[in-house]
Amino acid sequence: MSARAWRIAVLHGVNLDQLGRRDPLLYGTLTLAQLQQRIERRAGELGMSATFFQTNHEGELIERLHGLRDGDADAIVLNPGAWGHYAWAIRDALEIAGLPSVEVHLSDVSAREPWRRVSVIGELCFASVSGRGPDGYDEALALLREHLDAGGAA
Ligand code: DQA
Repeated sequence: MSARAWRIAVLHGVNLDQLGRRDPLLYGTLTLAQLQQRIERRAGELGMSATFFQTNHEGELIERLHGLRDGDADAIVLNPGAWGHYAWAIRDALEIAGLPSVEVHLSDVSAREPWRRVSVIGELCFASVSGRGPDGYDEALALLREHLDAGGAA
């Protein structure tokens, strides 16, 4: 265990506030609040801390990403929702944030409509986890822990 408590910014994009009301076969039954509690617990078990942000407004996510440049966090877990498939400005803001990042999707985006196979942020993320439901966030945290402990850059 590293002495350092890595600070992870967990960012959720558009429509993820609707978890619990969306198709449970794709997205499971947890609400966003329940999912975040789970992520917070897992982060703690890994000796990390997590902060959370969700918005349905693209510019707000962009500004949050800009803010992370100022040293608020060591790494990012980003589920951009549908923005991840077309919102190039979010890709650029993630690049500006300049932090090690993991892309997460609850559902398996590779097995759905063809347009969901596009990821505008994939090239900036050192790992992408898709189709593992809430466990995907556990995996993202574990990957980040390893990456940060090894001195990994963005
Ligand atoms: C999602 C997948 C996206 O394609 C979709 O638009 C979402 C959620 C996921 O977590 O599986 O809103 O990011």
